Amino acid sequence: MPEPVQISNGLDDVYVDRSAISLVDGERGGLAYRGYDIFELVPGVPYESVVRLLLQGAPPDRDPAPEIVEALRSRRDLSPGVARLVDTVDPKLPPLQAMLVILAGLADAPYPYPPTAEQGLTIMARLPVALARYMRRAHGLPMVEPRPEFSQAANYLYLLTGTAPTPTQVKALESYFVLLADHGMNASTFALTVVISTQSDLVSAETAALAALKGPVHGGAPSKVTDMLDAIGSADRAASWVHDALARRERLMGFGHRVYKVEDPRAILLHRIAQAMGAPRLALAEAVEREALAALRAQRPGQRLYTNVEFYSAVVLEAIGLPRELFTPTFAIARTAGWAAHAIERTADNRLIRPEVEYTGAPPGLKWPRPVDRAIPRAG
Ligand code: ACO
Repeated sequence: MPEPVQISNGLDDVYVDRSAISLVDGERGGLAYRGYDIFELVPGVPYESVVRLLLQGAPPDRDPAPEIVEALRSRRDLSPGVARLVDTVDPKLPPLQAMLVILAGLADAPYPYPPTAEQGLTIMARLPVALARYMRRAHGLPMVEPRPEFSQAANYLYLLTGTAPTPTQVKALESYFVLLADHGMNASTFALTVVISTQSDLVSAETAALAALKGPVHGGAPSKVTDMLDAIGSADRAASWVHDALARRERLMGFGHRVYKVEDPRAILLHRIAQAMGAPRLALAEAVEREALAALRAQRPGQRLYTNVEFYSAVVLEAIGLPRELFTPTFAIARTAGWAAHAIERTADNRLIRPEVEYTGAPPGLKWPRPVDRAIPRAG
């Protein structure tokens, strides 16, 4: 008898590589980028400086990192080919679906392997511009040009709305971008890593990452949190709503995490940001969180399910004024920093990722059930 094969469905506790980029401490609820705890970075440290930290390994000499500010500013123009592609994407597609097409289409010039920080910054600079172009066209609005004096967060809001964002909106989105910039070997980063391990290019790898991020048990959850708040409607209905949802064996969006077995530290900071900015649906969200945690404790005892990043992401992004269909695209824009950093790190010691699967099908040697013509005609 052969040895039974050990299978880790979901790859829990499987180490696929080493990384010096971010430390996720699931037991204590910690997240640090290259040694800098997120509570040290948020609020206050500009996204551009965190991009520098993730890509280069050390903070800049000044904030916001001048070379990243300049690199993003000088790369925001879309080539005529990319602009044409964006303008041909069906305006009725959900923005996240459109974003997959648009991201793949950014490779209008070669992005040769191995990936570089310059390539990563080019994607980072252009993706929000291209997405905003798509959104404005889909809503019949005229295009606006990026404003060179605006940060990545401010420009994103400006390009979408056509008006200069308020300091509250910019600060909240900046903090959100920093908190979502990287998160260890999560599903989308793993998808990216698999693609880069084949020596494919960075645009293709980030497109694969976005495809993975899209799923509701990964980055697709925050709009569903907003749907849940809509369905609950008022704080007095929260207890019965979550009780009934759990009784139907549904998952409560914005709760539970593969790694965090305590509250997600990003949720703590996003909750504080929602409080500081006076988010309109904060009181409802807090009531839902309270009831959800109590019901999860009672109805899923022993499973250690707590609030995850997506719950207060939804509250903050809604308070900034973003529509729910842009929540996951906005997450992706923040994460382009971490994706680039991981792709570059991987190539220092790359080996094709090619795992095994235990075959459980029919034993080989079956005969096709009908006669087969096996002759190959001669060419010409
Ligand atoms: N609500 C109710 N029950 C839950 C929830 C939840 N949010 N999360 C997990 N559970 C239960 C499952 O039903 C399962 O119970 P069972 O064994 O009785 O069937 C048990 O907990 C374990 O679930 P798994 O799916 O094995 O746990 P996993 O580690 O894969 O869960 C996940 C992580 C996928 C995020 C899960 O908690 C979930 O689906 N949450 C809701 C969606 C969500 O918020 N996604 C965003 C995640 S954060 C991010 O990726 C950026």
